[in-house]
Amino acid sequence: MKSNNHAKHWLGRLIVTGILSHFLMGFAIATPTLSSVSSLNGDAKNGKDVYHTCALCHTPQGWGTENGYYPQLSGQHPNVLIKQLIDIKQGNREVPTMIPFADEIFDKGHQDVADVVSYIATLPMTPKNSVGAGTNLERGKKLYTKQCESCHGANAEGNNEKSYPLLQGQHYEYLFRQILWIQEGIRKNGDEEMRLSIAAFTDADIRAVSDYISRIKPDKNKVAESIDWQNPDFHGDFVSAPANVKNKKQ
Ligand code: HEC
Ligand code: HEC
Repeated sequence: MKSNNHAKHWLGRLIVTGILSHFLMGFAIATPTLSSVSSLNGDAKNGKDVYHTCALCHTPQGWGTENGYYPQLSGQHPNVLIKQLIDIKQGNREVPTMIPFADEIFDKGHQDVADVVSYIATLPMTPKNSVGAGTNLERGKKLYTKQCESCHGANAEGNNEKSYPLLQGQHYEYLFRQILWIQEGIRKNGDEEMRLSIAAFTDADIRAVSDYISRIKPDKNKVAESIDWQNPDFHGDFVSAPANVKNKKQ
């Protein structure tokens, strides 16, 4: 009898310990959500240091590259940035090179994420994003008005509360690739309603609508005064990966 009680006692302790460690582990690796990050107060000063690694690819200005490989981040809504960072970390987007960097900023809890997003909000947008060939703009406008405007807004300004991305001022090839990847399901986080609405788009349709969007101008107060604007938080000799790529090609 005694040994039975003893066994029960140990079993009970085991279960309690199990529940406790499960709870603690769950706490330590709590899965980030949009609200767990957006409810924090971002500190742009710390965000500046966090952004240093991001600048290696997205450039110190946050303008990405005109070939659209690296998207512009400046001007994007905070909730969209947060959601995309979570999605990239979770492998919902086709961007293997960035995953370790997305992992790193979630490592110490979620404060670094809130901070870097606050810092990005201080950066002006590029006055010279790349645009398409300009050959099918009427079609692009028609498609946009009919099928995109209801979510992304008349000027492709997006909506922070609903996490609809701002699209204005974004590089043409980036827009093209994302729309295509959402259509093809390569971008797994794509909005389902959007995916259905573009299911029948041809490549030419996607080019036309991307071209139209890339020419929508953001408000002047969101844009840098000149293409020569340099982010004063970075030394002039900071070399980003895109700059290297450009140098090699030229
Ligand atoms: C090694 C290069 C690299 C680094 C470093 C990097 N990124 Fe990225 N990032 C990319 C690429 C490439 C994409 C576009 C992926 C695609 O085409 O879907 C991207 C996409 C994004 C997006 C999605 C933008 C959108 O409009 O949906 C966000 C947000 C982002 N990065 C933020 C960051 C932040 C913040 C950091 C620093 C913590 C960072 N990135 C570091 C390469 C990088
Ligand atoms: C029902 C609302 C809705 C409609 C309609 C819609 N979208 Fe979207 N779109 C979204 C949402 C939400 C996202 C972000 C999804 C996510 O979290 O990745 C998105 C993402 C995008 C992106 C990626 C942006 C980025 O920075 O990575 C592009 C480009 C885009 N949409 C273009 C379009 C175009 C062009 C149309 C019309 C043909 C369209 N969308 C119609 C809701 C919509």
